[in-house]
Amino acid sequence: MTLDAKMVIRCAEGLNLSAAGLALMIQVGDTWITPMDYSLPVIDAFRVPMTFSDGVKRLQATARTPDEWMAMTREIHRLLQLGVLVSDDAPDLAPARETLPTAKEVKLHVDLLRDSVRTQVYLAALKEIVRPGDVVVDIGTGNGVLAMGAARAGARHVYAIEANPMGQTTRRIFEANGFADRITLIQGWSVTVNLPEKADLIVSEILSNDVFTENALQSTRDAERRLLKPGGRVIPTEARIFGRLITVPDRLRSQRTVAPGDVADWGRRYGLDFSALHDAQWHGQMQTWVSPPEVLDGGVLLSEAVEIGAVQLTHITSLAYAATAEIVCVRAGRLDGVLGHFDLDVIPGHRMTTDPLAEARANSWRNPLWFCEPMQVSAGDRLRLTLIHEHRHPLSVELKIERL
Ligand SMILES: C[S@@+](CC[C@H](N)C(=O)[O-])C[C@H]1O[C@@H](n2cnc3c(N)ncnc32)[C@H](O)[C@@H]1O
Repeated sequence: MTLDAKMVIRCAEGLNLSAAGLALMIQVGDTWITPMDYSLPVIDAFRVPMTFSDGVKRLQATARTPDEWMAMTREIHRLLQLGVLVSDDAPDLAPARETLPTAKEVKLHVDLLRDSVRTQVYLAALKEIVRPGDVVVDIGTGNGVLAMGAARAGARHVYAIEANPMGQTTRRIFEANGFADRITLIQGWSVTVNLPEKADLIVSEILSNDVFTENALQSTRDAERRLLKPGGRVIPTEARIFGRLITVPDRLRSQRTVAPGDVADWGRRYGLDFSALHDAQWHGQMQTWVSPPEVLDGGVLLSEAVEIGAVQLTHITSLAYAATAEIVCVRAGRLDGVLGHFDLDVIPGHRMTTDPLAEARANSWRNPLWFCEPMQVSAGDRLRLTLIHEHRHPLSVELKIERL
């Protein structure tokens, strides 16, 4: 998009600023936008239509530093793209009204809806916990199923927040089901979103395969602090993480770790010694996601499942997590690592599991497989498992496996 100095820019028709306490939202038609640092001075500058160059000069007079002035100029560009500002001289700058999700996005949401165990547990929990007249926030609304579940359960209004570009598709789903006036779709990361009112209930399904790495703790803690009424409720409430010792099938092990055979093979092919690479893999944590058949077909479980720790998903104070548990081998074999799963209490009494052995297993999650340097174990051997999630590295969940 090129900005011409002479093009006349003005605020969009029906532009609205909605405030509740400290929260402020920009509303254009049915689109809600979170203001950034310089949105308000920029909107103010173009309340009266003026050329781009006059608007920039006006902002320059209020900017305290050149950086601030540059940021304001960038904000003009952003607000034009979002349709908050418009230019009749350049109608092509108007935002695309009909944006579409990517194929990857569609597949994710199809898989989630096919996972009826997960979805039904959440819907049943919403039916029980939503009170007539509640304001609900759905973090990561995606296909919108939980927002609509909350509306059906009696919520007066639902704010459905989604970071990824599902575009108009989610809105069309709300319209098709008659919820257009009771559910407001807000595009953006929940941590950057303000709402015109606080919620009685926050619902989210943003748990990754290992619970932590979709930033569930951070998003929930932020929402509890900024978007929830005092004494408001949050679901899900608790996840309990389990592990089983396992001999991984050879095919999977050779795909996901560096085996001594690889080093020998590279030696033959390239005439070079890469054994340091083989050794290096055990310095950090080798971890992968697996589907149950991938790991159970040909794998051998060397222990029962042991609970490593429970993670509170409400009243979150710390973003870091650590838990330790002892585990006993029930059969001898080569220990390659730990196969994890979690049980989730959406609310007490409405539980689901990602246990690969459970008959009623939800199917959209995979299981974390934490590798260790292979070791021979015997029945009765005891080991210590230490799970560490460091919030400074949101993508890391480490599981230390030590012989006692
Ligand atoms: C597993 S999907 C759940 C979709 C839908 N709520 C359901 O239950 O079928 C999680 C969605 O949350 C979104 N998401 C994750 N964290 C978010 C956040 N902090 N703010 C907004 N969207 C978020 C992701 O982009 C993804 O679309």
